[in-house]
Amino acid sequence: MSKLRLAVMVSGGGTNLQSILDACVSGRIDAEVAVVLCNVADAYALERARQTGVPGVYVPAGRKSGTVEWEAADAEHLRLLAQYGVELICMAGYMRRLGPMVYQAYQGRVLNIHPALLPSFMGAHGQRDAVEYGVPISGCTVHFADEQFDTGPVIIQAAVPVLPGDDEASLGARILMQEHRIYPQAIQWYAQGRLRVEGRRVIVEKAPPPTMAEAIISPGLETR
Ligand code: GRF
Repeated sequence: MSKLRLAVMVSGGGTNLQSILDACVSGRIDAEVAVVLCNVADAYALERARQTGVPGVYVPAGRKSGTVEWEAADAEHLRLLAQYGVELICMAGYMRRLGPMVYQAYQGRVLNIHPALLPSFMGAHGQRDAVEYGVPISGCTVHFADEQFDTGPVIIQAAVPVLPGDDEASLGARILMQEHRIYPQAIQWYAQGRLRVEGRRVIVEKAPPPTMAEAIISPGLETR
């Protein structure tokens, strides 16, 4: 059986990319990364692609939606996605909005990971915003992406506590550990054809029960 061909879109360090590459190699997901697309020329994610022997392509994407540069990126993305036979796009820390031509061609075939429990703390600073708001629980979300930011149907979430003294970096590191667990799982469900979208809800066929020893209550309850 041929494996699902992924494009992973990145802008930064690429630890999520690494977790996806590793899951492809270990067989946890029945997919292969056909190409890595990156809008930052010196992003470490491109080095991770190189080390794994996966093509990594720098595509400048422009800061603002609707600009000539951004539209050129849309066309270039579409061309590369076709060239590499991509079936599913996984945005993993891609800090730009994808263009309308890509969404048109890949309707229902674009995933994103967000470092907060959507719909809380949408936007580019989910970890920092959670710390500043003072919530005791945050987490991460894998969702189908649409042309807006962070608004598509949710596939899977993981919750983590925000601990006293946490800052953006320490909370971000705790969240990342869970991102690396839930993103490969969501991709595997997609690869297995087990995801069905009904309105805002994503049905996972034969979904396992939630992984929890008990609910995360933060701060904890006191026993007496
Ligand atoms: C992750 O926290 C992801 O949720 C967010 O950007 C970060 C990317 O991290 N969208 P990495 O490049 O995968 O390490």
